[in-house]
Amino acid sequence: MAGLSYHLTTFGCQMNEHDSERIDGLLESLGYSQAAAPSEADLILLNTCSIRESADRRLATQLGNAKRFKAARPGVVIGVGGCWAQSLKDEVFERYPFVDVAFGPGQVDRLGEFLLADSIGAQGYFEFGGFTADLPMRAQQRAQAWMQISVGCNQKCSYCIVPSTRGLEVSRPFSDLVAEAEHLVDRGAREITLLGQNVNSYGRDLRPERRSFSELLAAIDGVEGVDRLRYTSPHPQDMRADVVAAHVELESVCEHIHLPLQSGSSKILKAMRRTYDRDRYLSRVAMIREAIPDISLTTDIIVGFPGETEADFEQTLSLVEEAQFDAAYTFIYSSRRDTEAALITDGVVPAEQASERIGRLIELVQRGALKRAERFVGRSVEVLVEGPSRTDPERIRGRTRHNKAVNFVGIAEPGELVTVEIESATSTSLSGRVTLVSSALR
Ligand code: SAH
Ligand code: SF4
Ligand code: F3S
Repeated sequence: MAGLSYHLTTFGCQMNEHDSERIDGLLESLGYSQAAAPSEADLILLNTCSIRESADRRLATQLGNAKRFKAARPGVVIGVGGCWAQSLKDEVFERYPFVDVAFGPGQVDRLGEFLLADSIGAQGYFEFGGFTADLPMRAQQRAQAWMQISVGCNQKCSYCIVPSTRGLEVSRPFSDLVAEAEHLVDRGAREITLLGQNVNSYGRDLRPERRSFSELLAAIDGVEGVDRLRYTSPHPQDMRADVVAAHVELESVCEHIHLPLQSGSSKILKAMRRTYDRDRYLSRVAMIREAIPDISLTTDIIVGFPGETEADFEQTLSLVEEAQFDAAYTFIYSSRRDTEAALITDGVVPAEQASERIGRLIELVQRGALKRAERFVGRSVEVLVEGPSRTDPERIRGRTRHNKAVNFVGIAEPGELVTVEIESATSTSLSGRVTLVSSALR
């Protein structure tokens, strides 16, 4: 196998990024090296997403390129993994006959099986079947690590393709996760982010002993060497007092909660099947703020869901003002195959109106985010160093416990925790200078 190279392009959310890290580890262990560009690789891999139409379009371009590279160098193997592959299944090969292997989210080990098979030429498609944890880890060490705690989603949000691509929710065993956290710390991690579509419903399906998400937080917090613990995404419906208390009681649990809203209109939330209304969402925010006054709250919002009127949209704007988010990811509704909302024909919001609305929303979000970010100016904050700043090589980049990106002046190595005095803020980042290197590299 030695001498072969691969190129992997990742689309979508952190779960795909996490799977891609696992693919890197697997391929390294099989002796593949990383190619600088897909045009030079023996194995071209796309880890796909299908959450919105724009994701599909980007993918189509990449697939077209892969096809050309294969035509130029016939031995090239093309593989597609992730949610788009899962949602199309065998159709992938009918529509894109130049694809050699397709595998669902989490099925990284099946890619390995395929590559090790005698006749790599035959096409292979692998159904999803959970998360395979026992994979070679990537050699590269990072202070920030991800840990997938569950696969799938039991919610039925009417716009969302994920339940059909990732299946029903299955929690990974509690003791496996604690062991994985210990392993990650041994390899240099000091910040762990727990991943799942609905992290705080973790453990209800575990037998014989049911577990709760807050128990998991406590167990991982108890792992020696975990300095920071994060999670994404919780569902507002399951954001209960025990999870909020974990932020107060457990030292490693960070002062940041990503609480996806989707809409500020109860009517639209109902049509989206989000299982909470405007008041319930706001009462969760109030509960969080009462327990952790300085919390950073971020969210996801969809505009232009079918039936959204100007009055509904204004409800979203007013909720954004009331909740005071530190950041929000905003999306124009995109109709997805095999979803309930795709069948709605009434009240479809024209594209120009949706983009006009998202423009107004982004403007409000940015104004609010700037105001929230300004509270850090003059404060000294703990920053986990990531590397050189992307925009200014003279500066260093890192993240605060509140999950704010910081660019700062000083000397610090990736993986160090340093104290930075914040001198200025924009809506998306902070800047300042190091005052203290508080803890050495592990
Ligand atoms: N499980 C998480 C996130 C799922 S996907 C949750 O429930 O919050 C991330 C975000 O993509 C969602 O929160 C939603 O805002 C957005 N999204 C999902 N499907 C979409 C669609 N069909 N059109 C536009 N945005 C969508
Ligand atoms: Fe999709 Fe809703 Fe599940 Fe999130 S909770 S993955 S939006 S179905
Ligand atoms: Fe995309 Fe699948 Fe994640 S559709 S956003 S890669 S769960």
